[in-house]
Amino acid sequence: MNINNLFGVKDKVVLITGGSRGIGEMIASGFLANGAKVYISSRKIKDCDATAKRLSEKYESECISIPADISDLNGINKLFTNFDKYNNNLDILINNAGAVWGEPLHKFSEDGWDKVMDLNVKSIFFMIQKFLDLLKKNTTSDNPARIINIGSIDGINTPYYENYSYSIAKSAVHKLTSVLAAKLIKDNIICNAIAPGPFPSKMLGSAVEHDYSVISKKNPSGRVGMPEDIAGLAIFLASRAGQYTVGETITCDGGLVASAGHDLTND
Ligand SMILES: NC(=O)c1ccc[n+]([C@@H]2O[C@H](COP(=O)([O-])OP(=O)(O)OC[C@H]3O[C@@H](n4cnc5c(N)ncnc54)[C@H](OP(=O)(O)O)[C@@H]3O)[C@@H](O)[C@H]2O)c1
Repeated sequence: MNINNLFGVKDKVVLITGGSRGIGEMIASGFLANGAKVYISSRKIKDCDATAKRLSEKYESECISIPADISDLNGINKLFTNFDKYNNNLDILINNAGAVWGEPLHKFSEDGWDKVMDLNVKSIFFMIQKFLDLLKKNTTSDNPARIINIGSIDGINTPYYENYSYSIAKSAVHKLTSVLAAKLIKDNIICNAIAPGPFPSKMLGSAVEHDYSVISKKNPSGRVGMPEDIAGLAIFLASRAGQYTVGETITCDGGLVASAGHDLTND
């Protein structure tokens, strides 16, 4: 029951897609601060390398950059081949890379549908397929490997913005999580999802012109998410403490889903 036994992730090998900024970087920071070996991936080589260097220095722990565009199988294969050069096992896979697209219904484009579905849904399925053998390598019932998929509360609530492919894709991420959790638990691989609410990032920032004051006020907790909120939940799911939590989608949103339909102005 010691805190290190319950929540420790020291020396775990972690791969985080979309780890170069935003939520992926927040989660990478949490694992690095607690002694894990973290690989981050994203398309822009310079940004991915710079984040890995900055985080390695800040947390005095090894963060390695493996850039790749994982929206298709070629990119996933490239990421796998380069990862395999460093490590032939993987303890924790965090499928975080994601994209959003907003357009009114009457002119919502095929590009906006395909781009979001390819990255947010298809790539998660094929990342898991590709890395399955590495996840199985060191896993036992006492020490199961973990997959954490990053969904969204937009896949639970009906979103305010016209981001059709995004909310539908995120709902699919949550379903994919329970379907694969049921399949993989027998192989000692635990699969869960996190559904974040608003967290400051390039993605959310571009929707609110980087002014988070309005969405903070609208949030039942009176603020947007902080790195500790999302990293803490990811560490729970990756640690001994999260070992009996299987196939869940856990919100991390300050209470937005819990309060859906509840008018805070009446309180
Ligand atoms: N921020 C929020 O409020 C919020 C809320 C709910 C859910 N989420 C989810 O959280 C995840 C992270 O979002 P974020 O807000 O941190 O977004 P972000 O700041 O835009 O970061 C996205 C990350 O994914 C990478 N990426 C984008 N396209 C990629 C591709 N084709 N291949 C590989 N990497 C790619 C980006 O780097 P490159 O551009 O260099 O590739 C970046 O590292 C997403 O799944 C998002 O849907 C976010």
